[in-house]
Amino acid sequence: MTIHEHVVAARSRLEHAGIEIGNAGIDAEVLARHALGWNRAYYFSHRHDVPHLSFDSCFENLIARRERREPLAFITGTREFWSLQFDVSEAVLIPRPETEIIVKTVLDTNPDRTASLRIVDVGTGSGCLAVSLATEFPNAQILATDVSSAAIEIAKRNVAKNDLADRIECRHTSFLAGVEESIDVVVSNPPYIPTNHLTDLQLEIRNYEPEVALNGGMDGLEGFRALLAQSEIKLAKQGWLFFEFGFGQLNGVKALTKEHENLELVNVVHDLQKLPRVAVLRRR
Ligand SMILES: C[S@@+](CC[C@H](N)C(=O)[O-])C[C@H]1O[C@@H](n2cnc3c(N)ncnc32)[C@H](O)[C@@H]1O
Repeated sequence: MTIHEHVVAARSRLEHAGIEIGNAGIDAEVLARHALGWNRAYYFSHRHDVPHLSFDSCFENLIARRERREPLAFITGTREFWSLQFDVSEAVLIPRPETEIIVKTVLDTNPDRTASLRIVDVGTGSGCLAVSLATEFPNAQILATDVSSAAIEIAKRNVAKNDLADRIECRHTSFLAGVEESIDVVVSNPPYIPTNHLTDLQLEIRNYEPEVALNGGMDGLEGFRALLAQSEIKLAKQGWLFFEFGFGQLNGVKALTKEHENLELVNVVHDLQKLPRVAVLRRR
């Protein structure tokens, strides 16, 4: 049996397991390449080869995990974000493409890349926002916080992999607790799923991603409440707060902002589906 034949058989198993038809083939190919250690170009020129004997059991193990709906990124241990590769594990949320809007919006709002910004990434998870911003702002000093010590370990690993330990500190704390004042920029993708919606999430998310990364309390807005209250105190005057929010939460975000007289909602950025996604607030 050739590698390609293995992949075709695996694709139909994954479709049977409930994975979308469009994704099942891609996942099977990615897992075959993961087992072989091959890039796409090499795979396409060698997929009609018969694999080494050890491939069969290794590939079977990977496909069985995906059949149980374990996310692809947890099986391969890596996910791309902002054109960088991040280590991921079940301790962290898998970085999502829509979160890249935060990085882009920070860049659009602060076009001077040489600025010595003091940035805090609240709820850093894998460290994807902190690391991406550090690569874009070479003079920035960044603090990355998370309430999960397991997440902080993954963030530290990604910081070290990118040689950024001199500019990014990963700290185990809740939101901005213990963080010094006069921050220029706060970024955050806090948990924002309402508690009673957690069971509606797709299997990959609800069975594998950490609840602490998802659960935004009864109305989904608990994380925003803490973030706004603490940012109002810790941001420097004219400092910026950028955060991601979910479907149907814009009115809640607007109402919360009105409770903070020193914060002003200056922009709302939409995603590719034209849905409001990222709030931009400024400290008065
Ligand atoms: C939606 S995930 C975002 C992770 C990462 N920033 C990203 O965008 O991929 C939310 C993160 O917030 C963290 N978190 C939850 N409650 C927190 C709190 N009270 N203080 C700090 N971090 C918290 C979770 O552990 C999780 O890593």
